Amino acid sequence: MKFFALSAASLPLLAAAHAGADFANPHAKLPRQAPVNSAPAPNAVTSQSTNAAPAPTTTPPPSPPAGSQTTSAPSAPGTTVPGVPPPVTPPTVPTTTYTFSLDATNPTAVPLSEIVSTAASSATRPLDTTFTPGSVPTFLPGAPPLPNAALLSPANYPKLDTPPPIDSPEVQQWIKEVAASGVQIPNIPPNNLGGCPNNTAAAADPSRCWWTCGGCTRPADVTDCPAPMTWGLTYDDGPSFYTSDLLNYLDQEKLKSTFFVVGSRVISFPATLQTQYMSQHQIAVHTWSHPQLTTLTNEQIIAELGWSKKVIKDVLGVTPNMMRPPYGDIDDRVRAISAAMGLTPVMWTRISPVATFDTDDFDIHGGLTTVEHVLQNWENIIGNVTQRNSGFIVLEHDLFQQSVQVATGYILPDALNHKPPFTIEPVVTCLNKPLSDAYIETNDNKTNPPAQSGAVPTLSSGAPGSVQATKGADSSSAGESVRLSSGLVAASLTGVAGLAAGLAALL
Ligand SMILES: *[C@@H]1O[C@H](CO)[C@@H](O)[C@H](O)[C@H]1NC(C)=O
Ligand SMILES: *[C@@H]1O[C@H](CO)[C@@H](O)[C@H](O)[C@H]1NC(C)=O
Ligand SMILES: *[C@@H]1O[C@H](CO)[C@@H](O)[C@H](O)[C@H]1NC(C)=O
Ligand SMILES: [Zn+2]
Repeated sequence: MKFFALSAASLPLLAAAHAGADFANPHAKLPRQAPVNSAPAPNAVTSQSTNAAPAPTTTPPPSPPAGSQTTSAPSAPGTTVPGVPPPVTPPTVPTTTYTFSLDATNPTAVPLSEIVSTAASSATRPLDTTFTPGSVPTFLPGAPPLPNAALLSPANYPKLDTPPPIDSPEVQQWIKEVAASGVQIPNIPPNNLGGCPNNTAAAADPSRCWWTCGGCTRPADVTDCPAPMTWGLTYDDGPSFYTSDLLNYLDQEKLKSTFFVVGSRVISFPATLQTQYMSQHQIAVHTWSHPQLTTLTNEQIIAELGWSKKVIKDVLGVTPNMMRPPYGDIDDRVRAISAAMGLTPVMWTRISPVATFDTDDFDIHGGLTTVEHVLQNWENIIGNVTQRNSGFIVLEHDLFQQSVQVATGYILPDALNHKPPFTIEPVVTCLNKPLSDAYIETNDNKTNPPAQSGAVPTLSSGAPGSVQATKGADSSSAGESVRLSSGLVAASLTGVAGLAAGLAALL
């Protein structure tokens, strides 16, 4: 058992949403950091992080990595992401003392003091294994041989990190298929940017079942693994320069994960995606350009999901049937379009209207949180899951080196040494389905009926989502006061209108 006691600035975090530049993908050709041979001593941890989190840094545009997989590098880092408020410079706030204990850390972990937004970009680790075109995924009965990723031509796809145009023949065809699916798309207008505070009527309308504002879910949404102590492991926003580090650790520990991949990133890292898939991880959809889907028109949503499905199929030969909406931004309109396109939504576990199992690992890179705060969030998650009568799903990312470093150095080693032990597996298998059920071409439709036949959202129920959102939650927090990690308290938010008001006040 390793104990960490330290002080760090507390930041105004809202666990349900992460903001910040998403596509900044810094990479410089720097020598790889020398391996660290021992776990960081607790006192090394105490000696730093007494100041407010550093301001987001401007990173140089990425240079092509050694062994770059295509000529198309990810887009240059930006300070804003379409659909996301720009990161605010965190105010200097009173310090908080964190006391978290980890059952184990990785002997080669990057010290906490180096997992900061200002860290130099670490060098890219080559993939341990690559697969030749034509390799057969024998673990997936019925799957086609692996396509030749070298033939992937970015010119045949939309511009990276931008919502695809809707007038292309591909998108026009997908629009026809959605119309022919028989799935009724509810007549919900697109939301404004700016989340719940800028959409108070939508946030207060239970018939939309907008997850962001209070946590409404529908029965087809995946929010948990059914079995207690079972963790449906997920990483979002890759593949990236740092996915290979994560894959190496997962291989070493014989762990399998679900990866929600961004179509634009697949264009840049097709060989990484092939290795993920051939190593028997689950691949799933996380849109083309990572927008807030509820702010888009039906046609734009179809374009985002359609191009993401297509590039994955072009690289792997199979098409995922699960999706995670960026920022968890889903309502009944997005659910219906997803169902019509054969995609089941996978969220992350929520324990109250305002608290979810979001490590907030994404925000270390942008300087909006600290690694200590992330580990405190992790400790809170662990504390909650051991009391749950179901399993759980946590939000983590493999886009930035900081997130991968905290996962491989701290979170996963801690989880692997937990007593009683966790079962850690991809979402599809935690739902008691074979991995082959995760792809449209290999799903035999027996244990996993196609999304559109079982997932038509019904508008008639109108049940406030908070009922489902808090089901199975830690009873001490469900429907009661919820203390956020920032120390903010949202009191007794039971009604949907109350939720909207409470969230408006918090955001
Ligand atoms: C709120 O919505 C309006 C209308 O779409 C938009 O112009 C404005 O930028 C939004 N505000 C924020 C903070 O996003
Ligand atoms: C459960 O999570 C909440 C919210 O993060 C946290 O305040 C609480 O301490 C956690 N419970 C346990 C037992 O860790
Ligand atoms: C499963 O359902 C999908 C979508 O309806 C269909 O395309 C596929 O052929 C079905 N698979 C089998 C094995 O029946
Ligand atoms: Zn994401």
